[in-house]
Amino acid sequence: MKPKFFVTTPIYYVNGAPHIGHAYTNVAADVMARFKRLDGHHVFFLTGTDEHGQKVEKAAAEAGMAALTYVDGISARFRDLTTLLGLSNDDFIRTTEARHIRSCQELWRRVAAAGDIYLGHYEGWYAVRDEAFYGEDELRVMPDGSRIAPTGVPVEWVREPSYFFKLSEWSERLLAFYEEHPDFLAPVSTRNEVISFVKGGMHDLSVSRTSFKWGIPVPDDAAHVMYVWFDALTNYLTATGFPDERAERAGFWPPDLHMVGKEITRFHCVYWPAFLLSAGLRPPKRVFANGWMTVDGQKMGKSMGNAIDPWALVARYGLDPLRFFLMREIPFGQDGDFSPRALVQRLNGELANELGNLAQRSLSLVARHCEGRMPSRGAATEDDATLLALAEALPLRLRTALGRQAMGEALEATWQVVRAANAYIDRQAPWTLAKTDRARMAAVLRVLADVLRALATVLQPFMPGSMARMLDQLGVAPDQRDLADLANPVPDATVLPAPSPVFPRFVDEDRGAD
Ligand code: MSP
Repeated sequence: MKPKFFVTTPIYYVNGAPHIGHAYTNVAADVMARFKRLDGHHVFFLTGTDEHGQKVEKAAAEAGMAALTYVDGISARFRDLTTLLGLSNDDFIRTTEARHIRSCQELWRRVAAAGDIYLGHYEGWYAVRDEAFYGEDELRVMPDGSRIAPTGVPVEWVREPSYFFKLSEWSERLLAFYEEHPDFLAPVSTRNEVISFVKGGMHDLSVSRTSFKWGIPVPDDAAHVMYVWFDALTNYLTATGFPDERAERAGFWPPDLHMVGKEITRFHCVYWPAFLLSAGLRPPKRVFANGWMTVDGQKMGKSMGNAIDPWALVARYGLDPLRFFLMREIPFGQDGDFSPRALVQRLNGELANELGNLAQRSLSLVARHCEGRMPSRGAATEDDATLLALAEALPLRLRTALGRQAMGEALEATWQVVRAANAYIDRQAPWTLAKTDRARMAAVLRVLADVLRALATVLQPFMPGSMARMLDQLGVAPDQRDLADLANPVPDATVLPAPSPVFPRFVDEDRGAD
């Protein structure tokens, strides 16, 4: 039986249109899902929308719409985003669905039965934009006396009856859990932040609200709706069919990887494992926090008014160049600026010139001088063997890098081989061999075809559409495109389709090519 792999994105708030920041985490999670499938896993890839809470309720009111109508509309746009980005998600969850309401209420009952929930009274600061509670000591006081959360958003004073989760009693157990599971949280900077937050001592957490209605009712006390983060985090459990232990996807629990933005690690790494452990359920194996995509150094977001529209980018540059750029440009885990100019440089340089030309040059020679059929291997020279060895090492190098979500490192390892192959083709000059030594020319072209196949195979998770086209041109059968299939060479004399460039150069109509 194939090993299982369960990977998730955050579920997105439906308070505004999707932007490129959302696309960033989506693409990263999709790369992980696709790579694991390629590497022989049975994958469950989940994404969806977070539809309850005050923030969404407020956005609906501002749009002058009933909450449910409003969330239906925006959730559909996030679903469209998955199509736009070519995501391979297996499910799309909405927190307004009946399956989710049932699952949240059951988790609540279990946590309550464990003695971790009590009724009290909350009085303190709340930031609707973050859907988070803050202590007085965390806030900045402004000259007019108002207060600002560490994230820069306003807070308001909330005073109401509330159920609490006994988070204050969980510090020791959480610290022990982090200690026993060193891979639970990455990158290391985020890990250190979370640990020091827990070490600093924690207050009990308010997990219900009474001052508004847009949420999941607390079991047996309909005056309360659940705190939106209790509701939201539970989506991961719902999607496995919880509480039905015989559900088709029950065996995927616990998640192998939650991909999240760094601003929501506290929820995923402190509250979430505490809720689950309290209910007697296993916590996720790993949470990876990506950095922020910034515009002129500021986090991109709808409230910042600097959001970039993914639809416009895909229309202008194409999907795969965008996916490649997102994973290549910014070291995954760190913040980085989004710049269309840098995207065009990567597209024209690495994709069109380096990889695209390599394929086009090699395959045109095959078409012209080998009757369009896959040439046979000859006796390998040292130069051949060195390049082939580099290509053969790729699956392992990618497995290692992506095992740590080092997306950029995986692409850098791949590009080392692209560059080595370009140097090889220039050294071997098969266009000259065509006139002097046809047997050697054929052997060189076969080496190049095999190296291109390895490259296209490992790059599929990043650029699925373009790499499928490249594998078609290389005569690789559709059922021969997993990592393990690299052991089966394309049969000699396979008829290849006429080559055509996979990555056209981008020419800016106003400025000429960058
Ligand atoms: N609804 C919560 C998450 C609940 S998960 C159980 C939420 N939603 S959100 O709509 O604000 O989306 C947050 C996620 O979108 C971030 O954690 C991150 O993954 C992604 N990003 C949103 N803006 C981003 C950037 N500017 N840069 C990088 N990622 C960004 O929080």
